[in-house]
Amino acid sequence: MTRPDQGADAPTQSHDGPRIPSDDELARMSTDDLVRLGNQIDDLEVVSNRERFPVPGTRAERRAERQVAGWFIIAALSGIAFLVAFIAWPWEYVGPGEEGGVLYALYTPVIGFLFGLSVFAVGMGVIAYSKKLLPEDLTIQQRHDGRSSEIDRRTAAARLVQTGQQSGITRRKLVYRSIGAAGGVLGLGVLVAAFGGLVKNPWKEGPNSPLLITGWHSEDGERVYMRRDTGESEEVVLVRSGDLAPGAIETVYPFKESQRTHPEELAEVLRSPDSPVMLIHLRPDVTVIKRAGQEDFNYGALFAYSKICSHMGCPTSLYEDQTNRILCPCHQSQFQANEYAKPVFGPATRPLAQLPIAVDDQGYLYARSDFIEPVGPAFWERRS
Ligand code: FES
Repeated sequence: MTRPDQGADAPTQSHDGPRIPSDDELARMSTDDLVRLGNQIDDLEVVSNRERFPVPGTRAERRAERQVAGWFIIAALSGIAFLVAFIAWPWEYVGPGEEGGVLYALYTPVIGFLFGLSVFAVGMGVIAYSKKLLPEDLTIQQRHDGRSSEIDRRTAAARLVQTGQQSGITRRKLVYRSIGAAGGVLGLGVLVAAFGGLVKNPWKEGPNSPLLITGWHSEDGERVYMRRDTGESEEVVLVRSGDLAPGAIETVYPFKESQRTHPEELAEVLRSPDSPVMLIHLRPDVTVIKRAGQEDFNYGALFAYSKICSHMGCPTSLYEDQTNRILCPCHQSQFQANEYAKPVFGPATRPLAQLPIAVDDQGYLYARSDFIEPVGPAFWERRS
């Protein structure tokens, strides 16, 4: 079929299609005229177009309205519940078995379920609306290739407007308002999900905010030793400086003497995601390059690096002592253990955080302080 050029002022006549009106004529046409014209242009044949409720206000119509509105009301209510849960549900980490652990564990499932229910109900509402309130319409259309012309777009928009008018949306106040409520709340929910992190303040504890401290932090100056994981959370085995042979690596965890009689704390420290540290004993023939400001962080050939990858936080568990490289299996970042764990391959751009360590009178390794920078991936506020 011949298509009119966009912006043509004069009417045109295609050889095998309808007469195409000028822009002026187009602007004067009513919605019904535009729909008819669009049908002709698109080779649309309307076989039947029947109002579902020719007599307004019947019980059947009101029942259909209530069913449609019911879905949108469910969407609105679950959207509100999502907002409340997102803001008020206890979201800060509580270990399994501790008081509040179950509530914390339910945080993600609850907000996921409520948000999903809201989206689902909107979808069901739209389906119910089209099946129960829009006119029953049987139309056959031939397929066309290429981009739609201006006339096609105008007439298609007119068809949508006409369909909306025929559905009686403006007089169906219950459906109209429930759609508005569901759309508003759901839109708000999307905004909250996207920007909610900006509402909550992870820095309200200042220098002791969770992202800035790890299990190696000691508030009262109590010494934090290095402990190995034996598989029994209540068994405490501390690490001595002579325990690792040259070229060896071991994952160690923080331990304070005050935790010894608290089984739940002993267990939690093994699960704490930011505390695992790789203790590496470099071979004696390895050349070491230290990072400025961290020259005394090692103890002899023993170096302690956070196990949490600076790319996206995976555990960097693999170590090759021939090349002194630490490998993160997630995206293959490699860190040079004898050069302050700087990244030498892969997507990571920052070194692994290094823990300053020392040895006490009995040869046990301990942390001289917490990490001097946040461990793991970048976030907006981090300075290093
Ligand atoms: S998380 Fe380690 S390389 Fe991506």
